[in-house]
Amino acid sequence: RLAKPSQIYAPLRANSQGVEFGDRRALAALLEEMDAAREPSEAEPSAATKSAPRDAASPIDGARVGRVIEADADNVRTMMAAASAAFPRWNATPVATRAQIVESAAGLLEARRGAFIPLLQSEGGKTLDDALAELREAADMCRYYAGQARAICCEHRLPGPTGEDNRLRYDGRGVFVCISPWNFPLAIFLGQVAAALVAGNAVVAKPAEQTPLIAAKAVALLHEAGVPRDVLQFAPGAGDVGAALVADSRVAGVVFTGSAEVAQKINRSLAAREGAIAPLIAETGGINAMIVDSTALIEQVVDDVLASAFRSAGQRCSALRLLCLQEDIAAGAIETLIGATKELRIGDPRELGVHVGPVIDDEAKQRLDAYIAEQKSLGRVIYEGEAPTSGTYVAPHIIRLGRVSDLRQEVFGPALHVTSWRAEEFDALLREVEASGFGLTFGLQTRIEERIRFVAARGPAGNVYVNRNMIGAVVGSQPFGGFGLSGTGPKAGGPDYLRRFVRETTVTINV
Ligand code: NAD
Ligand code: ALA
Repeated sequence: RLAKPSQIYAPLRANSQGVEFGDRRALAALLEEMDAAREPSEAEPSAATKSAPRDAASPIDGARVGRVIEADADNVRTMMAAASAAFPRWNATPVATRAQIVESAAGLLEARRGAFIPLLQSEGGKTLDDALAELREAADMCRYYAGQARAICCEHRLPGPTGEDNRLRYDGRGVFVCISPWNFPLAIFLGQVAAALVAGNAVVAKPAEQTPLIAAKAVALLHEAGVPRDVLQFAPGAGDVGAALVADSRVAGVVFTGSAEVAQKINRSLAAREGAIAPLIAETGGINAMIVDSTALIEQVVDDVLASAFRSAGQRCSALRLLCLQEDIAAGAIETLIGATKELRIGDPRELGVHVGPVIDDEAKQRLDAYIAEQKSLGRVIYEGEAPTSGTYVAPHIIRLGRVSDLRQEVFGPALHVTSWRAEEFDALLREVEASGFGLTFGLQTRIEERIRFVAARGPAGNVYVNRNMIGAVVGSQPFGGFGLSGTGPKAGGPDYLRRFVRETTVTINV
């Protein structure tokens, strides 16, 4: 249902480079490329460390994926010093050169898809269509930010009544720390780093501890494309490495994607730190709701709910967590939804036709299993799928809640909550959804135009989707990001993102 043959490779067909995967021969060629490109993977910090190597295990079956050496407090300081020293030279490099380097990285990424896709699958647990979509998003981000940099990062002459020569110029800020999550180990990692670099900053990049191998490959690609080694430093490691980076007084800015809880910690750490006041761009989670009224088309709703709640095993920040069905259609819609959910194939995401792969690791599985067990004890679980017993699989679950406020945490996995509402309760329902304090994605399914206009004007979340699914925002067309507990903005893949990475100088010359 989620991966009809034609959809498996559709994501790359839409790529701005026009890569075509329109038939089965093209798919076979891709699979061959993936086989030929399998290679050992390694991740290690840019500066030497005494840390011992560890093996990285796949969430699919626990098999060894590669070898990782993590950063420590000493080499974090070394990397920060090297990046600080490299910054002025990189910032003085013409923006056209920086943009061209980042664009070549996008081209290299596409050319090496055969090597990236197997790693996205083995280290990230991704299905083929998720891996392809992520690869496309990563390349799109590079090209989009390169274009934005050309337009923004130069000197702009300003008109005005002063009779003087007034100019506004945009430069890099200094060293940016980029901290990313595991659920988009390529697109978010590369998107953050490409934006910071192309704007003229030096970078120390820390990937999630679950996915350092993909990040290491992306760093190697940027170096190969022409980013000098000292300008881009790589610091694989856990949260303590991120915390050490953020605390360094040389940091000129932080871009973070991950949980709201860690974003708050980083915010506090930046505020307590000596040195310049550094901006934080934080993109975090959400308790994302979809409201469905009785005028909606149920078949479309069910298709969109399956994609929004269960694709990527529900491990998207944008994923649907709370489905609010108008009372008079609720029973029928739930029955159809359960029927459709039963059809999902759960298992090894490298097999074509599997819809739901594993969750990222044992810890995530245990957290989700405990949550589901608690919901069961409350008598709320109305559907429980079946998952393989080995590996870190969690089957799709549907959980019936009495009211919206029963869900007060982001449940990051394939658990969909459902509630119902009466016709006269629409406004109150919207207020209850907003009361979570998050505001990332929101879905509305209705044929009532006035309701669409009302919700669009009110903007209950950063990304509002009407009569479609709630995932897969397209770079440049659907800038992505939320507000409140969901993040600071500006939106990734949007026209204002790069402006947060730059320092502005007004030069006034009395001519
Ligand atoms: P997380 O917050 O646990 O970790 C994110 C990153 O922060 C990791 O690299 C981690 O090592 C690092 N980190 C942890 N503690 C730190 C500290 N004290 N200081 C500095 N860095 C620290 O999140 P996760 O589990 O990797 O990812 C899932 C979360 O990310 C979900 O909440 C999801 O909604 C969110 N997310 C948001 C977006 C978005 O665009 N809004 C996109 C993807 C994921
Ligand atoms: N940008 C990702 C999506 O929209 C998180 O699903």
